[in-house]
Amino acid sequence: LHVRPAEGVAPADLGELRAAAHACRACPIGALATQAVCGEGPLAPRHMLVGEQPGDQEDLAGRPFVGPAGQLLDRAMAQLGWARDSVYLANAVKHFKYELRGKRRIHKTAAQREADACAHWLDSEISLVRPEGLVALGATAARALLGRPVAVQAERGAWLHERSDGRPVFVTLHPSALLRLADGERVEAYARWLDDLERARGTVS
Ligand code: URA
Repeated sequence: LHVRPAEGVAPADLGELRAAAHACRACPIGALATQAVCGEGPLAPRHMLVGEQPGDQEDLAGRPFVGPAGQLLDRAMAQLGWARDSVYLANAVKHFKYELRGKRRIHKTAAQREADACAHWLDSEISLVRPEGLVALGATAARALLGRPVAVQAERGAWLHERSDGRPVFVTLHPSALLRLADGERVEAYARWLDDLERARGTVS
């Protein structure tokens, strides 16, 4: 089934968004994925956390942040006493992108044109979910939310006020960036990331 909403027609609710994003073929990656992975969490939350794109496990489960990066995010939130189900968790890109190597699906980062083609789904999701503040996990999310390239290390750790809908955006690292670090660097980087998340949680302004 190939259903795409007419250009400019926003989905009326999250169910419609899910179905339309699932069927989206505006870029090539949707045809290869199991399903679109839209976000999950309460409506009108204080925070929406936005990641990059679903990985292998998210693609199969149909839920965001259930693989290794999600487990690290869970651990950080638990350490801060921040309940995962109090935030809405979403991704900038809705479909898993991969390359087949034998039977293994090797994760590939979405190209910028693919992220751009997907951005309106995130915009719709934000309008429907109505979070107070948006937390960008990594550069792809930050760019999708701010509409410009973002140097994460330079701009992390503070609320930015640039969006036309008035929602502030807080930029920090993506958990996968921490997983990629060598053991020696990870401890300090993780502590700084926790500081960021604690600040984002504390006030939205
Ligand atoms: N990485 C992301 O950015 N999102 C997920 O849902 C999983 C891993």
